[in-house]
Amino acid sequence: MARLTINGTSHNIDVDPSTPLLWVLREQVGLTGTKYGCGIAQCGSCTVHVDGAAVRSCAMPVSAVEGKRITTIEGLASKGVLTKVQKAWLDHEVPQCGYCQPGMIMAVEALLKDKPKPTDADIDANITNICRCGTFQQVRAAIHAAAKA
Ligand code: FES
Ligand code: FES
Repeated sequence: MARLTINGTSHNIDVDPSTPLLWVLREQVGLTGTKYGCGIAQCGSCTVHVDGAAVRSCAMPVSAVEGKRITTIEGLASKGVLTKVQKAWLDHEVPQCGYCQPGMIMAVEALLKDKPKPTDADIDANITNICRCGTFQQVRAAIHAAAKA
């Protein structure tokens, strides 16, 4: 059994403690915005926030996040109001197929919290998510727009 706080709601979940957080989010809690890509902490499509920090949930056992604050892409917008990053994503038409984008946005939200005005070098060093559609230039432009908003 694991007690998790996800997007401000407490859940008691009957699960083996070694189960990756990603699968609990998707299969037990029904939050399918967080995506499975590689399963080995390489692609970033499964990125969520744990106590505000970007974490790759495919490689994070639920036992490690009990008592912490978990936020998924579904929990970002507050009362239907999009964040600056989400608005910039729409303005710059960043998503193509969209599969990597929830994880990309979660990684960017965490970066902007740490570095509100990131340089291109900061972006390259911190946003290592993989996008098979090659949206990297739009991602960069949208990050700079969100930082100025
Ligand atoms: S699915 Fe987690 S990093 Fe790729
Ligand atoms: S938008 Fe298609 S994988 Fe990134």
